[in-house]
Amino acid sequence: MHKQYYITTPIYYVNDNPHIGHAYTTLACDVIARFKRLDNYEVMFLTGTDEHGQKVQMAADKADVLPKEFTDRVSKNFQNLAAKMKFSHDYFIRTTEPRHYESCQKIWQILMEKGHITLSSYSGWYSVRDEAFFSENELVDGKAPTGAPVEWLEEPSYFFNLSKWQQPLLDFYEKNSEFVAPVGRFNEIKRFVEGGLKDLSISRTTFNWGVPVPNDPEHVMYVWLDALTNYITATNWTNKEQNGFEKWWPADLHMVGKDILRFHAVYWPAFLMAAQLPLPKRVFAHGWWTNEGEKISKSLGNVIDPISLIDEYGLDQIRYFLMREVPFGRDGDFSKTALLHRINSDLANDLGNLSQRVLSQIYKNLNGEIPALSEKPQKDDVLLLKSLKELPDGVRVEINKQAFHEALRLIWHVIAEANRYVDKQAPWALKKTDIVRMSDVLAVLVEVIRGVSLLLQPFMPDASAKLLDQIQVAPEERLFMFLSSSNMLSGRIIEKPEGVFPRYQLLKDA
Ligand code: MSP
Repeated sequence: MHKQYYITTPIYYVNDNPHIGHAYTTLACDVIARFKRLDNYEVMFLTGTDEHGQKVQMAADKADVLPKEFTDRVSKNFQNLAAKMKFSHDYFIRTTEPRHYESCQKIWQILMEKGHITLSSYSGWYSVRDEAFFSENELVDGKAPTGAPVEWLEEPSYFFNLSKWQQPLLDFYEKNSEFVAPVGRFNEIKRFVEGGLKDLSISRTTFNWGVPVPNDPEHVMYVWLDALTNYITATNWTNKEQNGFEKWWPADLHMVGKDILRFHAVYWPAFLMAAQLPLPKRVFAHGWWTNEGEKISKSLGNVIDPISLIDEYGLDQIRYFLMREVPFGRDGDFSKTALLHRINSDLANDLGNLSQRVLSQIYKNLNGEIPALSEKPQKDDVLLLKSLKELPDGVRVEINKQAFHEALRLIWHVIAEANRYVDKQAPWALKKTDIVRMSDVLAVLVEVIRGVSLLLQPFMPDASAKLLDQIQVAPEERLFMFLSSSNMLSGRIIEKPEGVFPRYQLLKDA
């Protein structure tokens, strides 16, 4: 029986084209989804687009097309980015799908029947950019706390009795100390809830691009109630025959940016508690990227387009950089200098040279035949193989904490150890003096290249596949369960090796 793992990205607003921030959130999920699959989990990895609400309607009006036509077009851009980034999602959800309307209306009806929704009227501030309501005392210099402009709203509205869920939420947080990460963000959420919750307006009447409220079509649902519900729509909640909800819900992890944590860690659990549905197991809020020290914004004209970055530097290079450079959870700065340093130093030098050196020696000096591990290993061999053996558990722990940078740091620690070993053992010199020792050393190093490449698959799928191809690891031998079998490559014949990680300079000259 497979263990199951359900992971979600936020669904992206289709008011604009995808940028590096969107690529980042989904990449983090892709690494986890790939990791879990290789670790023998059955995974459901969900991403998609958030297509309703005033912000999207306004973007469609501006482009002078109907919202549906507009969302079809922009959603496609997000799907293209996902393909370009080689994201391995199992489903791309769109909130304009019929089954999503059904599921929003179902949750609404449950909340209504249980007495958690009442009709009243809203008067207060609204920020279209944040798609969020604000009271007077939350405004900063007449704007939303995010700096977004606000407008005054007065309209009939249905309200969800959020205030009633303050204590149940606090009790839940108390019992589930891993529910929100990082811990600093969890503390912010607790303080926010301790400060008291006001009932939440969950419908709008002054525009119509949304899911109609059951039995009151003058209202469309507040876009966040609609959007959050996507996580259960995708399990086929409304289609009992498929048992998807029982199988997948509750989600193991909702990955979100820090700006939308409140919706996921306060509102969503409150809706679910009120509907008597199970709560997700964990919400991780990652930080934001700046560009060369500046906030990324359209008005500053410094939006980073992930597609052109990939075309210039290579996909795995970008995937590696995004996961390695910034401790996951913190804000980080995107700088070309830092990117080039990672490409040349970590990838081309540390990993690329290691494998190229080892494989060319096997190719040249052993007729391409991968040697067997010695039955009488020396102390240095034992030490390096021990570090390699301990690596998978270490990496697994970090991935389960969403500490991608730490997982990669551990892997690079072993790569560095292997580079020191290769320098010290100098197999190229042993060729003339002790050919048996030379082959023992190369056998240890092939073990390291295999182990490290297997563990790097979730981060750099193409480059690690190339490395594994070069050392003749068959596709069906790439699951993590093969990490513990040693010496399985001895006797296999490699072809002339080719460098997998070019230095950036070379790319530019080409
Ligand atoms: N539609 C909502 C989410 C609904 S989920 C039920 C939304 N969409 S969004 O397109 O505006 O943002 C999606 C994600 O992109 C968020 O997690 C946000 O944090 C992330 N990023 C947007 N800009 C970013 C950076 N500059 N850096 C890192 N991530 C950022 O919110």
